[in-house]
Amino acid sequence: MKIAVLGGTGSLGKGLVLRLASLGYDVIVGSRDAKKAESKAEEYCKILGIDIRGLDNRRAAAECDIAIITIPWKHAFDTAKELKDELAKKIVVSPIVPMEKTENGFIYVTLPEGSAAEKLASILPNSKIVSAYHNIPAKKFADLNAEFEWDVAVCGDDAESKKTVIEITNRIRGLRALDAGSLRNSRIVESLTPLLINIAINNKMRDLGIKFV
Ligand SMILES: NC(=O)c1ccc[n+]([C@@H]2O[C@H](COP(=O)([O-])OP(=O)(O)OC[C@H]3O[C@@H](n4cnc5c(N)ncnc54)[C@H](OP(=O)(O)O)[C@@H]3O)[C@@H](O)[C@H]2O)c1
Repeated sequence: MKIAVLGGTGSLGKGLVLRLASLGYDVIVGSRDAKKAESKAEEYCKILGIDIRGLDNRRAAAECDIAIITIPWKHAFDTAKELKDELAKKIVVSPIVPMEKTENGFIYVTLPEGSAAEKLASILPNSKIVSAYHNIPAKKFADLNAEFEWDVAVCGDDAESKKTVIEITNRIRGLRALDAGSLRNSRIVESLTPLLINIAINNKMRDLGIKFV
């Protein structure tokens, strides 16, 4: 299965690329800049000792079966619009969290569509949108020696696509994927991320994830 991580040169992308590639998936690092994608892919190859390709986002989106959009929310939607044709009929995973830093801490930004995932679905009506990975602290996730036990709430309206993302996620050591219902529920899951960051800052904690017990 070919998985493109669009914006896979960044913080969350790094962990997803490393962990998925180490499980044997054919992972493509996507970037706006093909050269940057190649050089990041080379860096990731050195960490794992296995081959990972880097392509510009358009080619990565065209080649993949599943795309994960690891791009900050203010830019992710424009990228999705540009890649609408390449992403048609494919599973598109949204870990996108619309949030802002204010003088009183981080706040969730409510979009007119309800959530980043629903906005993505409105931009990509021919793709199968699944939302996941919103509550994963990227830096710790990218450290292959790190120990963690985090739940990943997965939302989506296409049962088969959601099942596929749950199965892939459950193969990643330390993650447990849970079906969190329809795509509409993404707003709840997305909004947990600024909450986790505020709790971490206010209580001098680090790398908080979620666990349902
Ligand atoms: N960081 C976390 O802990 C975390 C956790 C959960 C969810 N998320 C979500 O995951 C997504 C990625 O977060 P991140 O922290 O990994 O982001 P990031 O490191 O700041 O950026 C990721 C990549 O986005 C691309 N990018 C930046 N500006 C862009 C633009 N104008 N147009 C297109 N691409 C652009 C860049 O790739 P190129 O320069 O190579 O194109 C960059 O490497 C966000 O939506 C965030 O809400 C993050």
